[in-house]
Amino acid sequence: MQREKIQELVKSMTLEEKVGLCSGSDFWHTKAVERLGIPDIMVSDGPHGLRKQDDKADHLGVNDSIKAVCFPTGCGAATSFNRELITSMGEALGNQCQVEGVSVILGPAVNIKRSPLCGRNFEYYSEDPFLATEIATAHIKGVQSKNVGTSIKHFMANNQETRRMTVEAVMDERSMHEIYLAAFEGAVRNAKPWTIMTSYNRVNGEYVGENKELLTDIVRDKWGFDGFFVSDWGAVNNRVRALSAGLDLEMPASAGYRDKQIKKAVEDGIISEKVVDDACIRILDVAYRYLDSIDKNAVWDLDADHKLARAIAGECIVLLKNEDDILPLKKGSKVAFIGKYADVPRYQGGGSSHINSALITSAMKAVKDAGIENVVYAKGFDDKEDIVNEALELEAIKAAKDAEVAVIFAGLPDLFESEGFDREHMRMPDCQNHLIDEVLKVQPNTIVVLHNGSPVEMPWVNEVKGIVEAYLGGEAVGGATVDILYGEVNPSARLAETFPYQLEDNPSYLSGFGSGNTVNYSEGIFVGYRYYDKKNMPVMFPFGHGLSYTEFEYSNLVVDKNYTEGDTLKVSVDITNKGDRAGKEVVQLYVAPPKKEVIRPLKELKGFDKVFLNPGDTKTVTFTLDRRAFAYYEPRIKDWFVDSGEYEIIIAKSSENLVLAETVSVEGKASIPFVFSPNTVMSEIPNTPEAREIIKPLDNQDGMGGASSEDGSPASEAISKEMADAMERYTPLRAMITFSDGSISPELIDEIVEKLNALK
Ligand code: BGC
Repeated sequence: MQREKIQELVKSMTLEEKVGLCSGSDFWHTKAVERLGIPDIMVSDGPHGLRKQDDKADHLGVNDSIKAVCFPTGCGAATSFNRELITSMGEALGNQCQVEGVSVILGPAVNIKRSPLCGRNFEYYSEDPFLATEIATAHIKGVQSKNVGTSIKHFMANNQETRRMTVEAVMDERSMHEIYLAAFEGAVRNAKPWTIMTSYNRVNGEYVGENKELLTDIVRDKWGFDGFFVSDWGAVNNRVRALSAGLDLEMPASAGYRDKQIKKAVEDGIISEKVVDDACIRILDVAYRYLDSIDKNAVWDLDADHKLARAIAGECIVLLKNEDDILPLKKGSKVAFIGKYADVPRYQGGGSSHINSALITSAMKAVKDAGIENVVYAKGFDDKEDIVNEALELEAIKAAKDAEVAVIFAGLPDLFESEGFDREHMRMPDCQNHLIDEVLKVQPNTIVVLHNGSPVEMPWVNEVKGIVEAYLGGEAVGGATVDILYGEVNPSARLAETFPYQLEDNPSYLSGFGSGNTVNYSEGIFVGYRYYDKKNMPVMFPFGHGLSYTEFEYSNLVVDKNYTEGDTLKVSVDITNKGDRAGKEVVQLYVAPPKKEVIRPLKELKGFDKVFLNPGDTKTVTFTLDRRAFAYYEPRIKDWFVDSGEYEIIIAKSSENLVLAETVSVEGKASIPFVFSPNTVMSEIPNTPEAREIIKPLDNQDGMGGASSEDGSPASEAISKEMADAMERYTPLRAMITFSDGSISPELIDEIVEKLNALK
């Protein structure tokens, strides 16, 4: 329906009808206005499957939803580094929604993995906003290509579950834009999600859902968001304030209380009726995007989507370690699959994203289906509580001893990782670590397969020969794991987050999840690899790491030599498959800024591509970078700023494994306005002939009252030339009055300041 028609429709609604539309009719529906023929629409969770609940709805996944397909959760999806693949997952989800009459599927969830302990990390993509942007964009484009909306969430800074409904995240403006807003910004600009879900928490003193600057000034006006904002379920604190800030739809139903509050606010003149009208227009605009394009022919094929889920999972499994080429396993060799998750896979997390999976493929089922012989199973541990089960362990040790290779399926149980609470430590259950140690005593050829949503400490990392990070890879993860283990699929996923050795190494460790209701993001922009890089700190597995069964060689990096802001920069590099297996390589492009006064990460991911190569083949991968590849967020101009200088374009296999690099000379166009004052320090005065002329009267005044000389006197020992120079650099103009021989007057300083400000 055209915007004008929607506006007319809203004009014909009564105030009661309009305020009613601003909150749900129940858990999952908006309100219909029967008098005007406006139907309700249904929304459902996401993000990695359709959780459509018909009766007895709840938002924590307790009650059953319809049977659906569970694709890899966000933590896995991002590791694919494959945009097309994630788009195909989005298309499947969109189709399912069309069949089920769901207008908006709630996701993707793009909060930054600030701490490895966040309970919902399994739903989130990455510690890196560029990767999160690209994967979210792919997901949204896929779903919305089926005329079904998405709800990118949780806007913003819902980076922990501890006190998630009230906690205040305190962060500086630059970190907010560069780290915590960036994935929302990128996805809004690139993929135009129909809706955005506001988070529960507060940021810098205010509930996000009540923050007009964020919702309206930044997201709507600056980024061009043209859908509606919906609250997270139960997130609204003050409905009238939220509505004025731009939060259009409150979910779920509000038992009529909110209708009354909004109506009264309009009647009392606290908000204008136009605020309500605008919210209704936005809600109906999105509703009709769906209602006008319901696809009655859409089909939902559970089996086909299960196969798709397996193919996607295969690209999300990261091969972390492969000593002595222990993998791939030879079909027919004697293998012991150990650990409960080989039989009952841990493939998704608890809470609102929990899918009632139609089909689940375990690794044991997959080997049977594939006719792979000589694989025995031993449960090894139970995951209902963290205690060693001696009988199970003994059985597993025996199986490991009798086999040629032991594959232990381990990971974090629901008990450790779920929506609603954060992990207390980064360790795996002790009983599982114990089992791994015991197996290692009898079987040196041990491989660990991990199911977890976020990094774990691995005390056995040097002892085991292989580590396969399977994440919470969706209902087909068992099959996909077998595909990787036996080489049916050549691993091609890369870590979307750093695995530190221990929790204490993580930059959020000191401030953690806060004291009381406040958490201080004191690590600033140094989240994930940005921190480890700068600290030159060894990590267990770096961001972007992942092995393959073949080898890729990089050559012929070609980079435009100059870049001017506003243009694009071309980069190309050749990749050759030097091994004897076909495979996919993830080519990563990082940009390293020049070292200048503004503190920046050593380098940041600004491009990636995934290419398939047959043995011996070479392909050229090209990247087109725009200004954002070089920019940082500059609070002084409240915008992204390209600083001129020499930047390095780095092609890498991970944030630590850098392969090729070239320098490009970058010219920024914007400038940061600078107002000179008597407190301007000498080093801030531009080194131009005009400025030098203006400050000439200060010549021969060293800012130290002449205290330094190089004559070897006691005075020169106390104040070296280096010290005097440094002191002068940071001496404000006004101090020259005190330190001069009387020849510099306050009036002279004012005159200099005035002349400097008059310079263009
Ligand atoms: C979660 C959201 C979810 C909503 C509806 C909330 O508790 O934070 O991610 O979409 O419930 O189930």
